[in-house]
Amino acid sequence: MHNVAINGLRARYDSATVELDPPFALVDLEAFRSNAQELLRRANDRPIRVASKSVRCRDLLSQVLAMPGFAGVMAYSLSEALWLFETELTDDILVGYPTADRGALRALAKDDAARAAITIMVDDVAQLDLVTDALGAGHPDIRVCIELDASWRPLAGLKQDWLHVGVRRSPVHTPLDAARLAREVLRRPGFSLIGVMAYEAQIAGLGDAPRGKPVRAAAVRMMQRRSFAELAERRAAAVAAIRALAPLEFVNGGGTGSLERTSTEDAVTELAAGSGLLAPTLFDTYQAFRLRPAALFALPVVRRPASGVATVFGGGYLASGPVGSDRLPTPYLPQGLRLTGTEAAGEVQTPLLGAVADELTVGDRVWFRHAKAGELAERFAQFHLLDSGGLTTVPTYRGERRCFG
Ligand SMILES: Cc1ncc(COP(=O)(O)O)c(C=O)c1O
Repeated sequence: MHNVAINGLRARYDSATVELDPPFALVDLEAFRSNAQELLRRANDRPIRVASKSVRCRDLLSQVLAMPGFAGVMAYSLSEALWLFETELTDDILVGYPTADRGALRALAKDDAARAAITIMVDDVAQLDLVTDALGAGHPDIRVCIELDASWRPLAGLKQDWLHVGVRRSPVHTPLDAARLAREVLRRPGFSLIGVMAYEAQIAGLGDAPRGKPVRAAAVRMMQRRSFAELAERRAAAVAAIRALAPLEFVNGGGTGSLERTSTEDAVTELAAGSGLLAPTLFDTYQAFRLRPAALFALPVVRRPASGVATVFGGGYLASGPVGSDRLPTPYLPQGLRLTGTEAAGEVQTPLLGAVADELTVGDRVWFRHAKAGELAERFAQFHLLDSGGLTTVPTYRGERRCFG
């Protein structure tokens, strides 16, 4: 976006929030909706399940679910799924990660309607054992999804998996592994095999156009091409092997960074995405799409230690993942500010460098972007939503006193 448009945005955000005292978080709903449309455009008519961990605000989740093309939620914890169901957000919830929460399992088992709405994730018989141990033999039917490992093992033929490209999630890698676990689920009373999921983090969650790093970009693209080709074949074979044993309601795959690719696979019936709605900075580095920054936070200038420096209150909202500068928040508006190498984003204050700092006075605000999408909601109890009609304010999960880990 060129400078005039960026400056226009700053003026718009400043004037819409003039009554608010920073720190606060803002969601630009026009950008949010435009990002949702961009996700749908890349999804080739596959429904998108909304990854709630990347939103963590019930109001925003329900706005997305009201848009045709989005269907169901991918929750990140079983307690969260139970809460989302209880509060009538949706009756189609896949918990995208295995659970060891015995209390939540007992709550699920007690509630027939919740059991019909919520599907848990397994990739190991140990998780099935835990469910039965928590609920006792003869427990009511629990809907189960098998997670297939989507990582790439270029040397798998050598029976070595030390060259592992991707995240460490499921041990179920081959179609044979998948069929074996499916048989085990089907053999045990109290479980229904409903779906399969495989999340290709090394494609969906890794930008292929890192700025100023052409060699890395070329390497990432090559890895992603090869990994995708390998996965498409393996996923199809694993899904076919499971479908030969049980009918499936869905096969979920992909994430914000991979929609156009994952949606070309016949075996995949639905996609998942969340981050792309809010467009945090980690999603700025993909060749295939451009999103509009939709989630911002404003911090107040509280000191001017020297010429070319403005210090704002707060700011140390680091994103999870491997430690690196890409996990830091980014000063966004006004343009031209940067973090310092010695303090970066501090616990209670953050100095910012740049000539434009001299135009800032105590009480002015600086707009920032978070590196990840959902984690911003763990920092702020409210999101102020900006639309053409003005501002509305809604609670985040934190604002509803919900913290799922
Ligand atoms: C299972 C699963 N699917 C999909 C996603 C994609 O989410 P997002 O679009 O927020 O990157 C994730 C993110 O980690 C995930 O764990």
